Amino acid sequence: MPFRRKKISVIGAGQVGATCALMAASRDMGDVVLLDRSEGTARGKALDILQAGAVQLFDGTVRGTADYADTAGSDVVVLAAGSPRRPGLSRDDLLAVNAGVVASCCREIRRTSPEAVVIVVTNPLDAMAHVAKRELGFPRERILGMAGVLDSARFRAFVAEELSVSVRDVQALVLGGHGDSMVPMPRHCFVGGVPLIQLLAPERIQALVERARRGGDEIVGLLGTGSAFSAPAASIVQMAEAVLRNQRRILPCAAWLEGEYGVTGLFVGVPCLLGGGGLERVCEIELDAAERAGFEHSVARVRALVDDLARLGL
Ligand code: 2OP
Repeated sequence: MPFRRKKISVIGAGQVGATCALMAASRDMGDVVLLDRSEGTARGKALDILQAGAVQLFDGTVRGTADYADTAGSDVVVLAAGSPRRPGLSRDDLLAVNAGVVASCCREIRRTSPEAVVIVVTNPLDAMAHVAKRELGFPRERILGMAGVLDSARFRAFVAEELSVSVRDVQALVLGGHGDSMVPMPRHCFVGGVPLIQLLAPERIQALVERARRGGDEIVGLLGTGSAFSAPAASIVQMAEAVLRNQRRILPCAAWLEGEYGVTGLFVGVPCLLGGGGLERVCEIELDAAERAGFEHSVARVRALVDDLARLGL
């Protein structure tokens, strides 16, 4: 049988989608399709990425399109369509705007790539993953939300900066929903194998926790016109790569919980084992009383958003 290259489609050629396509192509993760309802935007950005490959010497193909037929049979689909955050607009404000976009994209994905693992990125993340699950009808193994990798990357970056060490040696975990209620877990942060709580005073750790929690807002405020895209794209690509190359990585992702952590029927950020089949396992860790309280508060926030979806008929 001829060797079949993997196929990754990115829906939405905005800042996040296009950067994700660039990173996926430059890591030679497979044939990349970049889809946008504006065909010119998708084709123009794909062409630009192709030409970047001639300089940076990667051969990954990127095809820009407005036609879902070109995404058919994708192994991984990244759903990055919808409106980004802007100053004064919280992730939750995007609920009504983006729910319809996500639903219509998912109907197309279900038709054209029924076996794909779908990575949802559109905000408000946990609620949009909920809409995606309803519209796709896929098993939970094949629907993941990207947030925890990004949120923990922010925390890791701030810890590395504070301690003036390589970020490579900083491991961290952030649980809960993607929003102000996310739960960074300092007790589970290690720097070169040493617990962070042995390296920094509690008030410094708390300051880094707060900065990570508001990491997206800080960038929205600085940019003035949109939201972060480089770190989000890198985070998506790490998840997609774990699936496409069956790497069996343990990464914090939004997963549909079926009783784990005492939660059922909701997407919440938890440590996940990712491999060729998508979500291979939800990893349960013990939470202390404060972590449990933070997690439950975050879950309640996600549940309130999902209830809003139903209330608004979205
Ligand atoms: C972020 O955290 C916009 O949710 C995105 O940067």
